[in-house]
Amino acid sequence: MTRVVTTIAEVRQIVRAWRAAGQTVGLVPTMGYLHEGHQSLIERSVADNDHTVVSVFVNPTQFGPNEDLESYPRDLEHDRALVEATGADVVFHPTPAEMYYPNRRTTVHVDELGSELCGKSRPIHFDGVCLVVSKLLNIVTPDRAYFGQKDAQQLLIVRRMVRDLSFGVEIVGCPIVREADGLAKSSRNTYLSDEERAAAVVLSRSLAAGRAVLEGGERRASAVRQAVLDVLAAEPLAAPEYVEVVDTDDVNPVETVEGEALVAIAVRIGGTRLIDNFFFTPEV
Ligand code: PAF
Repeated sequence: MTRVVTTIAEVRQIVRAWRAAGQTVGLVPTMGYLHEGHQSLIERSVADNDHTVVSVFVNPTQFGPNEDLESYPRDLEHDRALVEATGADVVFHPTPAEMYYPNRRTTVHVDELGSELCGKSRPIHFDGVCLVVSKLLNIVTPDRAYFGQKDAQQLLIVRRMVRDLSFGVEIVGCPIVREADGLAKSSRNTYLSDEERAAAVVLSRSLAAGRAVLEGGERRASAVRQAVLDVLAAEPLAAPEYVEVVDTDDVNPVETVEGEALVAIAVRIGGTRLIDNFFFTPEV
């Protein structure tokens, strides 16, 4: 039976008992409203570790003033049932007051990596992510923590933070889980009307065009971006926010793809902002 615990003290006590028995611990940080993408992370953690903690916390510090903090979908009973069916031991579901002291003064900022891509329109987002992930790593002290590649910039930033601050945890990146038509699974897909949902397939189709160009031997980022933009332009409901080709070290735009690159897009479909991406490494 999966336990839902709401206090830091309680989750620490549970993990301490596991550690005393010499057992390993995996952490899957989430904001809840779990879908098959989260499920794949939990399955991986359950396979890799003796115990798994799934945090369900809609983190206020990573939402900007005009973003969807209040309307972000929440369904704890659904989440608990999915976590239980997937075999994890604990749902950690703190309140904002449990996680954040009112006079908190500490921030966690990974320089540069958060300024491109999503950082341009969401300037405080990655500081909020780093703050909450640092806290979750300190509270749960897992051996491994699992993040989806769908939030590729987040994954790269968390990896760098963990390395720079010497957290004793392995960060495991897991592949994007997609709907049958290619749309990347996301809790925000629930915002889409039927018409918008049909249009949203253009994200993965546009990235497939970019990948085909790279696989054909093209190395100019401008040509890759144009191939993606051409597909997006054919969908009237799609308003691209960015289409970028960046390096996977500092997340800076590249002119030519020489090492591992991340091709990442953010597109508004109606009022909903969706992201998708792929990694590409040229053969040498
Ligand atoms: O990817 C998410 O759902 C969130 O950014 C995370 C990592 C749970 C931090 O709130």
